[in-house]
Amino acid sequence: MFVPNHSENSYLYDTEPSGGKRFQNPDEASLEFETLLDYLKNSRACDLTHYKRSTLMRRFRHRMHRIYIDTYENYLQCLQSHPEEHLALLNDVLINFTAFFRDRNAWIYLATEIIPKIIDCKPSDEPIRIWSAGCATGAEIYSLLILLAENLGVEFCQQRIQCYATDADPDALQQAQSGIYNSLDTIGLPPNLLEKYFKPTGQDSVFSPELRFSPDLARLVTFERHDLMRDNPLPAIDLLICRNVLMYFTPEAQNFILTRFHSVLNPTGFLFLGQTEMVLHQRQLFRSVSLKQKIYARGLEPDLER
Ligand SMILES: C[S@@+](CC[C@H](N)C(=O)[O-])C[C@H]1O[C@@H](n2cnc3c(N)ncnc32)[C@H](O)[C@@H]1O
Repeated sequence: MFVPNHSENSYLYDTEPSGGKRFQNPDEASLEFETLLDYLKNSRACDLTHYKRSTLMRRFRHRMHRIYIDTYENYLQCLQSHPEEHLALLNDVLINFTAFFRDRNAWIYLATEIIPKIIDCKPSDEPIRIWSAGCATGAEIYSLLILLAENLGVEFCQQRIQCYATDADPDALQQAQSGIYNSLDTIGLPPNLLEKYFKPTGQDSVFSPELRFSPDLARLVTFERHDLMRDNPLPAIDLLICRNVLMYFTPEAQNFILTRFHSVLNPTGFLFLGQTEMVLHQRQLFRSVSLKQKIYARGLEPDLER
């Protein structure tokens, strides 16, 4: 999870005051905001235009507030004069909140109803390929591995399971790859699973002690930096977990990502979304298996729609 580094903000006190232009009217603010987005896209190769404006503006204001800037126009000047600022902004925009077994009932449904179906459909000599897209700091993919190990055994996982965990945020990905968490991060885990799958590293953090996820299971995961709007999706996937990520994108961008997901899911593959997400405009691509738990099966081919 992102922890603000106050030393990186030392330059911020040089920022020009906003000259009393504290409150912008909404039209003016939106225009200035779009100018900011264009600047980031064209001059910093940082394309945020696919994200929902309401969330994006909130996250920009959060960052601006921390560095005492109150108009988008002044923030543009700050970005222009401080080439690293867009990286700090990105840390605020890419919200990394995650938790082990977030929405527990959905995970129970996945374990009891979906995983057995996936295994039944695959020849026993073929790997089962799983992709956690927007994995943040890794709690999601490690939750899945715990669930698989509990239901099928570690040996089965080592023989058959191939996991990929990707995110656009390199800092989050680095923590995910380390497999190291503190006691706050692991709050959602039942004590027996915590004891079984995590071992103290011997180091203390602020919320001590530091715990490391089982290396035997962690090595089944390949971590990669991957932007859902820019990079090619990973091929031949049996279970695609993309939870609490789509909700930050505009409807057009969501459609684009869902169409790409459809193209890489195996015919018997499943898509697992977050509790507040759904496949609204791509119903021809995905068939709902559980509306409540937000689990979808790959539906008809695009040209067979309606
Ligand atoms: C709220 S977290 C969700 C984490 C996890 N999936 C869960 O539900 O607990 C959203 C994640 O999406 C990632 N994300 C945002 N935009 C992305 C993009 N364009 N490509 C890949 N990941 C992205 C963020 O970096 C962040 O880690």
